[in-house]
Amino acid sequence: MEFKEAMKQRRAVNYFDPTKDVTDAQIKDIIETASLAPSGFNLQPWNVIVVKDKAKKEILRKVAWDQAKITEAPVVLIVLGDREGWKKDHSTFERDFAEMVKTGAMKKEQYNWFADAAKSIYGTTPDQKMAFACKNAGFFGMSLMLAAKNAGLDSHPMDGLDVEGVKKAFNIPDQYWVPFLLAIGHFDKSKTLLPAKWRKSYNEIVVSF
Ligand SMILES: Cc1cc2nc3c(=O)[nH]c(=O)nc-3n(C[C@H](O)[C@H](O)[C@H](O)COP(=O)(O)O)c2cc1C
Repeated sequence: MEFKEAMKQRRAVNYFDPTKDVTDAQIKDIIETASLAPSGFNLQPWNVIVVKDKAKKEILRKVAWDQAKITEAPVVLIVLGDREGWKKDHSTFERDFAEMVKTGAMKKEQYNWFADAAKSIYGTTPDQKMAFACKNAGFFGMSLMLAAKNAGLDSHPMDGLDVEGVKKAFNIPDQYWVPFLLAIGHFDKSKTLLPAKWRKSYNEIVVSF
């Protein structure tokens, strides 16, 4: 699908057709396409839990403002932002460095330099670590939505959720934050999709101080 068309056609669709499934191959394709999203130092501080099971979606709905689309959509992704991806021994951090050594972008002796740099880009306070995890997960999230649209599917992001409730219900370790959920499926065509929402104009977006 042409890029601008995908941007225009992507909508947060409130209603999913519960009779239409999304295959595991489609989910894999969407996640792999979205994995091309950029991230600071390529640390990719995101993970997802794929929720397809009906009973699990019921549990998720209970800790996410009782939003009906969670149980109507065939699949809901719990998107996670990793607040600890800067740590030595973290699998992504270690792979990131190893890949850079492999491509010649870094030398083995630069390991401690890179560890310090990764620590620094994540920031020193819990708020900064949270910001790093969630801003990068946001780039991944937008990519997931466009990849879904490109695959002929619809989606709906949700941050109306009780983060601690979701973490408890799905045994999510404390290093993660849950910036949003993403329902993916087929828009229920028996419902009316609201007209495209307003957007700030160029002049409202561009500021100077
Ligand atoms: C991070 C994020 C969280 C959102 N959370 C919710 C939500 O919990 N419930 C909901 O109904 N809509 C939610 N939305 C959908 C927005 O209201 C919607 O994207 C916005 O109004 C623009 O409409 P559009 O996506 O159709 O262009 C969320 C959107 C984003 C990006």
